[in-house]
Amino acid sequence: MDDNNNELRKEDLVFGLDIGSSKINLFAGAMNPDNTVKILCCGALPLKRPDELDDVVETLQNVIRQLEPFIDFDVRDVYVGIAGNHVSSVNYKGLITLSTGEVREVDMERVKNLASTIPETAGQILHVFPGEYTLDEQGGIRNPKGLNGRRLGVDVQVVTSPSNVILNLDKSVTRAGLHVEELVLEPLAAASAVLTDDERELGVALIDIGAGSADIAVFVGESVRYTTSLDYAGNSITSDISKCLKVPISLAKAEDIKKRYGTCRMSNLIEDETFPVPSVGDRGDVQCSRKLLAQVITARVYEIFKRLKEDLEKQHMDGLLNGGIVLTGGCCALEGIDAVAEKVFGKSVRIGHPRDVAGVQSYSNPSYATGIGLLLYAAKQRRKEKRRETGKQISVSMKKSLQWFRDFVKTYF
Ligand SMILES: Nc1ncnc2c1ncn2[C@@H]1O[C@H](COP(=O)(O)OP(=O)(O)OP(=O)(O)O)[C@@H](O)[C@H]1O
Ligand SMILES: [Mg+2]
Repeated sequence: MDDNNNELRKEDLVFGLDIGSSKINLFAGAMNPDNTVKILCCGALPLKRPDELDDVVETLQNVIRQLEPFIDFDVRDVYVGIAGNHVSSVNYKGLITLSTGEVREVDMERVKNLASTIPETAGQILHVFPGEYTLDEQGGIRNPKGLNGRRLGVDVQVVTSPSNVILNLDKSVTRAGLHVEELVLEPLAAASAVLTDDERELGVALIDIGAGSADIAVFVGESVRYTTSLDYAGNSITSDISKCLKVPISLAKAEDIKKRYGTCRMSNLIEDETFPVPSVGDRGDVQCSRKLLAQVITARVYEIFKRLKEDLEKQHMDGLLNGGIVLTGGCCALEGIDAVAEKVFGKSVRIGHPRDVAGVQSYSNPSYATGIGLLLYAAKQRRKEKRRETGKQISVSMKKSLQWFRDFVKTYF
């Protein structure tokens, strides 16, 4: 944490809040004069009962308290992540006739709005990601501005969430004394922390393997082509361990064993390597095989990737991933998890560590990707606001000078 923040201004602060299934991370950042963001500090605590409102609120309040010594201002407007398993992502199409015979920005806006006019029952819209445009018979156009044609079409990916999910998330954040500035799809946030521009350009899938879910998002260029989520991940690995070792053990103990002795890389294990597991009652430790543990873990990891792969194939997304696959989230700590993914997907895979943020060195663990990504997203929105304000100021001063010119003309001519 950085405690040299004497010249911090309230309006420069931005906050990213990741309420995961296993932990809460709250990142505080400050906008630099060059419009980049600097991480100031992070509050982080495990979340024991993510489904219980009171537990979420109490844990969040404690996390907020952790930030107090590092910033003089109250935490207030936060960008909050919403997990992939709480959203649905559907592809819609829009088609309009071009009144001027040329594509203007306003036409691109109009066709996007038309495509994202969805029934109320579909839930609340979180994001609208425009894909490629069509102009008359020509498809696959990324930016049609200025081109001539008669009919403009667009594919959009609309991400929605049921109203009650949004209400409950908002309730827990509000009760802890904060205000939700915007809800952001978690893999979208994580992507801004870990993906490179060339990966996006080539087409890449980001897989965030957390505790409760494995979220996937496909990026091609500027657009998000597809998002989906599998409702099991690290917690299921833990639950398998608790059932499949020589002795039955509690989930808490299984979680500890997973972190201490777990791996997906069996080739690194010494033959007959064992680890001690306390047996139930007071009967002393039982020795368990690390190879068996690795087999249990790898089987579940394999299944997670296989399900995601099948889904990508069903959606015809697998052919878009020339930039490969990037893994992030807490489960990336499992040694060899990238090799398992490579085997399943048949593509190049790397672990995505948060990068490119000043002060980030101590937060390079993939489990911070969503929180840091939310901070980067917040900074991007702040830049947009500033640009809009500067635009307004320019037009106000233009108005003022026009008025001055008119008055001058009236007076002297
Ligand atoms: N060293 C480790 N070895 C194996 N697994 C680990 C290790 N460290 C963390 N994990 C696992 O990572 C998961 C937590 O990851 P993460 O913090 O990304 O989840 P989350 O954001 O709380 O959950 P979600 O995104 O699913 O809501 C847990 O299942 C945890 O057991
Ligand atoms: Mg998460």
